[in-house]
Amino acid sequence: MEKCTGVSTAWLLMAVLGVLCNVSVPRVFAENPPGSFFVNCGSTASYVDKVTNITSMPDDQFIDEKSGVNANVSSSSQYYPDFSELATLRYFPDSRAKYCYSFLVTPNTTYRIRGTFFYGNYDNQNTVPKFQMAIEGTIIASNFISEVNVIAYQEISFVPQRNVTFLCLSRDITNSVPFISAISLVKSNPEAVFAENLYRGYYYVTQFRWNFGGNGIIRHPDDIADHYWFPVKSDSSYVHSTAQVEALTATNIVNATFPPKTVMDTALTTNGTCMTIDIPFPQSYIWFMILYWSELNPNASASSRQFYVGVPGYETQFVNTSGLGENFHLSYPGRVPNYVSLFKNLSISTALGPLVNALEIFELSQNQFVTLTNEQDTLAIEEIKSSYGNLALWTGDPCLPYPHPWVTCSNVSILQSSSSIIAVNLSQYSLTGPISPSFGKLRSLTSLVLENNELNGLLPDFWQSPNLTTLNLRSNQLSGSIPPSIWDIPKLNVLDLSDNNLSGNLVPITSTSCPTSLTTVNLGNNKLSGSFPSQLLACSISTLQEMWKF
Ligand SMILES: *[C@@H]1O[C@H](CO)[C@@H](O)[C@H](O)[C@H]1NC(C)=O
Ligand SMILES: *[C@@H]1O[C@H](CO)[C@@H](O)[C@H](O)[C@H]1NC(C)=O
Ligand SMILES: *[C@@H]1O[C@H](CO)[C@@H](O)[C@H](O)[C@H]1NC(C)=O
Ligand SMILES: *[C@@H]1O[C@H](CO)[C@@H](O)[C@H](O)[C@H]1NC(C)=O
Ligand SMILES: *[C@@H]1O[C@H](CO)[C@@H](O)[C@H](O)[C@H]1NC(C)=O
Ligand SMILES: *[C@@H]1O[C@H](CO)[C@@H](O)[C@H](O)[C@H]1NC(C)=O
Ligand SMILES: *[C@@H]1O[C@H](CO)[C@@H](O)[C@H](O)[C@H]1NC(C)=O
Ligand SMILES: *[C@@H]1O[C@H](CO)[C@@H](O)[C@H](O)[C@H]1NC(C)=O
Ligand SMILES: *[C@@H]1O[C@H](CO)[C@@H](O)[C@H](O)[C@H]1NC(C)=O
Ligand SMILES: *[C@@H]1O[C@H](CO)[C@@H](O)[C@H](O)[C@H]1NC(C)=O
Ligand SMILES: *[C@@H]1O[C@H](CO)[C@@H](O)[C@H](O)[C@H]1NC(C)=O
Ligand SMILES: *[C@@H]1O[C@H](CO)[C@@H](O)[C@H](O)[C@H]1NC(C)=O
Repeated sequence: MEKCTGVSTAWLLMAVLGVLCNVSVPRVFAENPPGSFFVNCGSTASYVDKVTNITSMPDDQFIDEKSGVNANVSSSSQYYPDFSELATLRYFPDSRAKYCYSFLVTPNTTYRIRGTFFYGNYDNQNTVPKFQMAIEGTIIASNFISEVNVIAYQEISFVPQRNVTFLCLSRDITNSVPFISAISLVKSNPEAVFAENLYRGYYYVTQFRWNFGGNGIIRHPDDIADHYWFPVKSDSSYVHSTAQVEALTATNIVNATFPPKTVMDTALTTNGTCMTIDIPFPQSYIWFMILYWSELNPNASASSRQFYVGVPGYETQFVNTSGLGENFHLSYPGRVPNYVSLFKNLSISTALGPLVNALEIFELSQNQFVTLTNEQDTLAIEEIKSSYGNLALWTGDPCLPYPHPWVTCSNVSILQSSSSIIAVNLSQYSLTGPISPSFGKLRSLTSLVLENNELNGLLPDFWQSPNLTTLNLRSNQLSGSIPPSIWDIPKLNVLDLSDNNLSGNLVPITSTSCPTSLTTVNLGNNKLSGSFPSQLLACSISTLQEMWKF
């Protein structure tokens, strides 16, 4: 189908002005700043990659050691000889809802993060698994691996909410086993229109990054941030022309840093009047497209290559590549593109046809990032995890994208307010040692159940949770006396301290009013002495279980 028609004169005038503005737009990336991570999942040692010259790190320092198992794929070198990081992966065979890698980041800074996946039949099942990838608390992709021996990746640009960011693999209802081959995290320096949305909590998903006229995939060290530039050759089904499409190659013409010189040194062109690039883009919300040009024909003169670019539904823009020693780019914001057309206007007597060197397409997220769990609660949960080693495998945000199984969170479906921890149930989690004071920092806690563990030491006296209604510390080895302040927890409803080594006299409660909300108290099977506080007996507590069996 011929698509390079129907341009109005009015648009052309505006288009010429547009080019004058666009030439001075700064590049998308200035440089790759320090603080980048290139992680090879499933590898056991750091190494310098022979092809990319990347210093690749093993992944064990970014995820708990009990999360996942290392494996080798059967065939990565056959399909992707230049991707050493695809040879190993980490997979997650148990049934947890999420597995999160954590990275230290600078808050309020733009980053680009990429998860890379090569299944390579590592498990001999010959079936690609279905799972989700989340960044921080937001699921950004589901079931995105389509073929056994084809690389898949998910890349987004975003602004982290805190000084730690997470890449999580998660399951919803499927029993597939998640895996991951590699992760890269780099600071980015996006152009203004990008940055504005990123700082408002939206993110961009990279859809295409194409190197017209190239051969293999270009990456580091040509691209200092190790973006993947996929080749689109002259016989590609994505490119159509009334005449033959040809690849142009030149060297030493372009001084490009971004896109890299090796990307800008190749182009597709045609000697016909029209070239169309079909973009296999699904229905989507808002996209952002950047086309890059550089004149590669040393014979080109000022009048030799002048043409128009058209995206359906958008202004047609005029491009004049003549005399350009540096690449420049032309950006289109828009919705659902099907194709881009590059065409000569026949009334301009240009000798050479249209040309294009590179293209990037990003999709704007429909929603903002889900706000991470209340920071004080998150820090308290991290402290609790560090007190009990066997909780370390619960990684990532406590509530997102799915909660740790031992916490209950306030309504997480409300996107723009952070959720809080309202209940903790660590019944039978083999916890040892004293009760962490950090439980008391969970301000919204209504229920704390630590029954059936091996907790010892004194009963804590640190409750900052005004809404605590259930405190169940049954069947542990807690000792010492019951602090009187426990009767001052304002909304306490159920108190179970039975089956411990608590001792001492039950001292009179200090509060003058009845703890009216208490309905169930169980102090049985301890070494307590004295009589039950008379004020409590006077209150209408309906169940005072076995409190007399000291
Ligand atoms: C490889 O990386 C090292 C250190 O990062 C650098 O000094 C060296 O110049 C790089 N070599 C190439 C060929 O890029
Ligand atoms: C992967 O292959 C390497 C080298 O062949 C070997 O040393 C390592 O034990 C393998 N790892 C696994 C998990 O099979
Ligand atoms: C985050 O960075 C943006 C752009 O650099 C700046 O305008 C904004 O004030 C910063 N916000 C905070 C909370 O630091
Ligand atoms: C991250 O932020 C938290 C909360 O503001 C702070 O306590 C912690 O020290 C910070 N960590 C780093 C490495 O900056
Ligand atoms: C384009 O090139 C082909 C083969 O080189 C030639 O046959 C054709 O006439 C050319 N078309 C134009 C419009 O120059
Ligand atoms: C530039 O002109 C020279 C001399 O006419 C010719 O040999 C060469 O093929 C031309 N280069 C290109 C890229 O067209
Ligand atoms: C195209 O660029 C050349 C060199 O900068 C300039 O001489 C020429 O006037 C431009 N053509 C148009 C139509 O702007
Ligand atoms: C390319 O970069 C080199 C070194 O930075 C500089 O000397 C040269 O002038 C640049 N060339 C162009 C065409 O900008
Ligand atoms: C080419 O541009 C002229 C104005 O410069 C316009 O009148 C004409 O319709 C255009 N031709 C095509 C094929 O778009
Ligand atoms: C959670 O949010 C959803 C949607 O906003 C709402 O329908 C539901 O009632 C809320 N649940 C609670 C317990 O607040
Ligand atoms: C706590 O978890 C245990 C074991 O999963 C369960 O039997 C118990 O009902 C839970 N208690 C509360 C208050 O949710
Ligand atoms: C305690 O519960 C009340 C009523 O449900 C609620 O408004 C308040 O925000 C809660 N306090 C905390 C610290 O979560």
